[in-house]
Amino acid sequence: MAKEVTPTRMEKIVSLCKRRGFIFQASEIYGGLNGFWDYGPLGVELKKNLKDFWWQRNVRERDDMEGMDGSIIMNRAVWKASGHEETFSDPMVDCLLSKERFRADQVEEQTGIVHRLIGAIPRIAIVDLPQLPPEAWIRWLFPTALGSVSNVAELSELLHAGIRNQNQTCDEEVLLAAAEKIFPQIERYDFSVLVPTGTPEDKARKVGMAFYESRGVKNPVLIEHEVSHLPVENSRGYHAETGAQLTEPRTFNLMFKSFAGPIESEENMVYLRPETAQAMFVQFRNILDTTRQKLPFGIAQIGKAFRNEINPRNFTFRSREFEQMEIEYFCRPEDGLRLTDYWLEQRLRFYDDIGIPRGKIHIHEIPDGERAFYAVKTYDLEYDFPFGLSELEGIAYRTNYDLSKHIEHSGKPLDYFDEATKERFVPHVVEPSAGTDRTALALICEAFDEETLTDEAGKSDVRTVLRFHPRMAPIKCGVFPLLKNKPDLVAAAREVASNLRAFMNIFYDESGAIGRRYRRQDEAGTPFCVTVDFDTIGENGPEKQGTVTLRHRDSMQQERIAISDLREWLLARIR
Ligand code: GAP
Repeated sequence: MAKEVTPTRMEKIVSLCKRRGFIFQASEIYGGLNGFWDYGPLGVELKKNLKDFWWQRNVRERDDMEGMDGSIIMNRAVWKASGHEETFSDPMVDCLLSKERFRADQVEEQTGIVHRLIGAIPRIAIVDLPQLPPEAWIRWLFPTALGSVSNVAELSELLHAGIRNQNQTCDEEVLLAAAEKIFPQIERYDFSVLVPTGTPEDKARKVGMAFYESRGVKNPVLIEHEVSHLPVENSRGYHAETGAQLTEPRTFNLMFKSFAGPIESEENMVYLRPETAQAMFVQFRNILDTTRQKLPFGIAQIGKAFRNEINPRNFTFRSREFEQMEIEYFCRPEDGLRLTDYWLEQRLRFYDDIGIPRGKIHIHEIPDGERAFYAVKTYDLEYDFPFGLSELEGIAYRTNYDLSKHIEHSGKPLDYFDEATKERFVPHVVEPSAGTDRTALALICEAFDEETLTDEAGKSDVRTVLRFHPRMAPIKCGVFPLLKNKPDLVAAAREVASNLRAFMNIFYDESGAIGRRYRRQDEAGTPFCVTVDFDTIGENGPEKQGTVTLRHRDSMQQERIAISDLREWLLARIR
């Protein structure tokens, strides 16, 4: 079914996730915490199925892969060596007016006229100037002249000039007193506003006034720059919404800090890991020695990572706490490029096997000049989320950069001795790095469907269904007695449920009409439901005794199946 790419679709998905217990806002009863999410009963099953399948494919089914589970907090030296302490940062810009913060490279380009201001003064400061009406003073002193004065004497001289200009006279003492009063109230701060060409000047003035008001200037009179209007093209220096100037880009380290031990000193400072990868480099020697693997071989890890993202957004897509599923696949230098393409293929197959077809994944090869300086080849796998095409996973050929850095900083031998060729060298690495939460979100987005059904009487209604691959579905099978007030049906259904429970996650439900129970399971993405009815318990004769109705989520077709065959039938479809 064709998907409409609209925010409405995403809103429906977010609402379903909450309503059905997939994902909740973390600390919700206290107003939540931006960038943090809790997975509810269905969400945790979905994520577990995803992680288990990833582990199965990448560790258990391969003899060239080893698993590990590193600690979240590591010696700070790890992050110095990896470069994260110095460079794991994004250049950020702030809107001077709204104070919103954006990644500098994500700011939209703007074209138009820039209105330049150099400061402002509260109107009240000039309304009681001597001799002339305030409007005359405002016209005279502003927009340009006042910005250039740097002391009270200069300002007093300027006031004199104003008086002379109007062929008036005024006592010098009075003007000096006025200058003393005005001078400290001048707010000098450069600010500019970009408005599209042809926009009335007033719009820029309003933004300017709002800015100086936010800096505490009441009812501001604006002081313009000598060159007050400047045409610009494709500038990334202004906020697309307000037109207000953005700050220069400043780097902001994304690692969360904490302290190991009771004393909050620089020495005890630690970071929550921003990726799982480093533990696999740091433990390379131990894993090599304990497993006696030969190149090429890999280490795999699933675990939490933390990044103090500036703009957590798009539901769980960009969170501050998330999980990664990462592989470091070590190899000889000459195999790096080939193995990068090999892993690309493996990873596309994986997504296909969990219900995200290869046609839905866009492979973006990062061009020269945009990759990390040590990476020779990088693919980003992107999924078409309702909010746009966005990265699910990166596959990077990182050469021997990481191991070399840890050799340099730790002084430990993280190299490899090849028995066959008698060579000693630092292995290269290919890193397929996937996000668990992003993949879980992609699974939900891919599965979400609304189907219009029309009954025999011509009445239509919309069935919301999550068409998960049975492998990923949080609940594999719903088990229902047809009626809850018939003890024989209930007992038989409970027995079917308890016999399946050891093998898969099932859901027993006896409340409400059977159609409504099916619909509830459709929304949870349960691929199969079985109903124990009067045939099952032999009330309509021996023919169908011991069989149940099995209903398929996607087609809504029903068939009869023997209870004795049920377990194997289901297992064959959910593994
Ligand atoms: N070790 C390499 C590495 O961490 P990355 O591209 O920064 O590379 C890998 O992260 C994957 O981790 C991403 O493709 C994404 O799926 C996931 N990820 C990164 N930041 C995330 C965030 N803030 N929220 C959710 N997932 C994130």
